Amino acid sequence: MMSGGISGLAGLAVGILASALLAGGKLAANEIGDADRGRDVFRACAPCHQVGADATNRVGPQLNGIFGRKAASVDTYVYSKSLARAGSDGLIWDLVRLDAYLENPKALVSGTRMNFRGLKDKQDRDDVLAYLRLFSDDPANIPEAQPTARPAEVDLPPEILALVGDPDYGEYLGSECQTCHQGDGSDAGIPAITGWPDEDFVVAMHAYKQKVRPHPVMQMMAGRLSDEEIAALAAYFGGLE
Ligand code: HEC
Ligand code: HEC
Repeated sequence: MMSGGISGLAGLAVGILASALLAGGKLAANEIGDADRGRDVFRACAPCHQVGADATNRVGPQLNGIFGRKAASVDTYVYSKSLARAGSDGLIWDLVRLDAYLENPKALVSGTRMNFRGLKDKQDRDDVLAYLRLFSDDPANIPEAQPTARPAEVDLPPEILALVGDPDYGEYLGSECQTCHQGDGSDAGIPAITGWPDEDFVVAMHAYKQKVRPHPVMQMMAGRLSDEEIAALAAYFGGLE
């Protein structure tokens, strides 16, 4: 269940878009961020993560070679069910996904155990990622987001987050969702989506729609929905306990 503040999430949605835009441009490894400054930013991560030759798992997994690494793939570390699921769905840590996760871990993976408020400052994220690149095998050749992952929409204006959904319409649309998601909120392998704050739901659906979240079925489901339909579904599922 997501727990970010509403205004934080609004900022986050814009952040997802900024990151998606970033993915469209060509980024040379030395053009994002300042690795020296990133070493200082990494102090915020160091209570839980190590990098370098002697790095071991602590509260969180070691982060060597994180660029191009499949999510939840350090086999000596026990991950949350949610991050493990994201990994088996095909989440690979590239620049865009790392940026989104560090900005707000729960936006990318709702049930992650990374108990970290996120780095809201874009420069901090760029810098810490530049630092982490130093610990990737081949820093000159790091996979960026695939061109196919570029979103068709490049804009999620505040109006989208402000849309008030019609729960009756949402109930009608939501019957299809309930072939997989349990209406009673139980999690039988597929995550529960009831009782979420509307904004969390809307941001998660747009993250699938923009392919920032990797799951192909959900990308397809969300890709077919208009902004109004997403708002209606948020209103309906948000009202279910
Ligand atoms: C309070 C502890 C904590 C802090 C602080 C923290 N993390 Fe994490 N991090 C975790 C945990 C725990 C996980 C595993 C999450 C899961 O299993 O859902 C994780 C997972 C990750 C992953 C995914 C790793 C993988 O193998 O898939 C990345 C990348 C990451 N953290 C980066 C960072 C960075 C960069 C920072 C600092 C800006 C940071 N984290 C701060 C605890 C923390
Ligand atoms: C074919 C089965 C299926 C259908 C139909 C489906 N979903 Fe999903 N949904 C999933 C799976 C599997 C996941 C977990 C994906 C992942 O790990 O990212 C998911 C994840 C989600 C999430 C994020 C949950 C989380 O914990 O982060 C939301 C929100 C969501 N679905 C909403 C919907 C809505 C709304 C519909 C209907 C328009 C829908 N889904 C239809 C299978 C489905």
